[in-house]
Amino acid sequence: MRELKLDPVSVSDELTTGLAAAGLPIDDIGEPGRSYFRLADTENQIFGYSGIEAASHDAVLLRSMLILPAFRSQGYGRRLAVMTIARTPNGSAVYLATTNAARFFEHLGFAAVGRDQVPQAILSTRQLSGLCPASATIMKLTRRPAT
Ligand SMILES: CC(C)(COP(=O)(O)OP(=O)(O)OC[C@H]1O[C@@H](n2cnc3c(N)ncnc32)[C@H](O)[C@@H]1OP(=O)(O)O)[C@@H](O)C(=O)NCCC(=O)NCCS
Repeated sequence: MRELKLDPVSVSDELTTGLAAAGLPIDDIGEPGRSYFRLADTENQIFGYSGIEAASHDAVLLRSMLILPAFRSQGYGRRLAVMTIARTPNGSAVYLATTNAARFFEHLGFAAVGRDQVPQAILSTRQLSGLCPASATIMKLTRRPAT
């Protein structure tokens, strides 16, 4: 696979439009404590986006994971996830919520956890407390993938 880079991006129309088209939450994306990234190659061809939300000093939410439709199923999602996880603080637990990609995240070292095992700071994020359906699977990173 070609050389890829993960650059910080601000909340923009391109980010919002991409997330909305994939059915991912956008209502809270401009709120404080969130950082977003863009996966691109050295010629600035964009493949997707991702986000990290700091829920507390030791827990973060991986969110807004998106590979643009034309580039799916070619390994970019895995690269996006690995590179984004590498941007999370080493001592922090990493959580996410998903309605349709649990198997994808299992391959990356995440495991489903019950809500009673999830810190309140994560449950209180806008995504977990309202924007994601209650049926969403909550997952925790159990081993950091090799970069
Ligand atoms: C989920 C998503 C980021 C995966 O990106 P991708 O580039 O298609 O994934 P990859 O090509 O890196 O796939 C890696 C592996 O996961 C599998 N996989 C990909 N998407 C999957 C999904 N939704 N469910 C189950 N498995 C999936 C692939 O088959 C592949 O398996 P393999 O390594 O055994 O062949 C992408 O499909 C996407 O943007 N979906 C829409 C937004 C979304 O649902 N984001 C997740 C919200 S939490």
